[in-house]
Amino acid sequence: MQKVYSKVTDSLNFFQGIDPTELAAKYGTPLYVYNERILRQRCRDLKNLVKYPNFVVDYSAKANSNLAFLEIVKSEGLEVDAMSPGEIYIERLAGFEPKEIFYICNNVSEDEMKYAIDAGVVISVDSLSQLEQYGRLNPGGDVAIRFNPGVGAGHHEKVVTAGKKTKFAVDPEFIPQVKDILKKYNLNLVGINQHIGSLFMDGTAFVKSIGNLLEIAKQFKGLKFIDMGGGFGIPYKKEFDEPALDLKDLGSKIDEALFKFSKEYGSEVTFRIEPGRYISAECGVILGTVHAIKYNHSHKFAGTDIGFNVLQRPIMYDSYHGIEVFRKSDKKSEKNEDITIVGNICESGDILAKDRNLPEIFEGDTLCVLDAGAYGFSMASNYNNRLRPAEVLIRENNDVVLIRERDELADIRRHQISLKKY
Ligand code: LLP
Repeated sequence: MQKVYSKVTDSLNFFQGIDPTELAAKYGTPLYVYNERILRQRCRDLKNLVKYPNFVVDYSAKANSNLAFLEIVKSEGLEVDAMSPGEIYIERLAGFEPKEIFYICNNVSEDEMKYAIDAGVVISVDSLSQLEQYGRLNPGGDVAIRFNPGVGAGHHEKVVTAGKKTKFAVDPEFIPQVKDILKKYNLNLVGINQHIGSLFMDGTAFVKSIGNLLEIAKQFKGLKFIDMGGGFGIPYKKEFDEPALDLKDLGSKIDEALFKFSKEYGSEVTFRIEPGRYISAECGVILGTVHAIKYNHSHKFAGTDIGFNVLQRPIMYDSYHGIEVFRKSDKKSEKNEDITIVGNICESGDILAKDRNLPEIFEGDTLCVLDAGAYGFSMASNYNNRLRPAEVLIRENNDVVLIRERDELADIRRHQISLKKY
């Protein structure tokens, strides 16, 4: 195998000596590949974010909810958040106890709310209507409320979840109404939470939002926890040496706010965060195969099997993912050239990487899409009736294990009812 261009995976020792072209041959492509060592390291990075002693990291499973993946996160001592009954279900299967699951729901039906109440997980609601709904279903129960701290952040407007333009959370202006509803149903407010958005590389907005959240907290007595949310970014442009988030600096700023608050508040509070991307993005890549090379009006394209059914982020948010090139044959790339890497889906927007300058790519090459462990498989679909990829894990001892089978054609048929039946 030739490592035609593999700067980032080499620097991380991502493949641990395993040949990605062999993985592609053995398991087929597209293929999600995760590295257990890096996943564990990311869990530990965040567990050590602050010195404040009562601190819990809830992994945000929406980023990657593979069962084996969750089992590793659990073994690192993290807890989890959940956004749906499906996430609660898979998290319970991965071994999380109900009290280790924080259900941060948005606009859920009574049935979904009942599912969570019956499961015994900790529940946060994010509107007055949903607080009423919770109160009707579980009077006298414990509840948390997600507040909008007025400051948002994120890599794209679609993922900014606080501030003036978002559907999420309760505007603190409604605190008097919140108190009325709590009283009406005899509810016990055990915590408050926020999530300002996804992917910040500079903690300024996050620290400011924490300050605002703590002001909100002071208006309630006896809170057991305050959840500051996720959003911790990772550098997607690693091949250009984009720096990582400075966790040490961020941690010390957060600590300052937490220690000060806990001195003033009067009762002991646990602080929580709920990172998804930071934990899962960098431990995952996608391997794909180049099936066609073509020119269209002088534009060069590499046609691959990594359509936007496999990775939605580029079409959805114009997201950048680094691309590496591996080759089974010893054919040389004589030059670098600009090339657009596309998938196999019937839309012109099916572009994985636009105008990248890479060593010449040939049919049969294995491409590796970096930083695909977060919001990769979890957003994959069967669009065009394509099969969702398999997932494998490179273990710390270099074993490679299959942790999800590729969909098969029967999965496309599954749950559909032919009119012949009627
Ligand atoms: N907590 C809540 C309530 C959330 O809604 C989210 C993400 C997180 C935590 C975790 O955020 P993270 O640490 O991963 O930034 N699909 C988009 C990201 C959507 C994030 C949705 N909520 C993407 O691919 O960039």
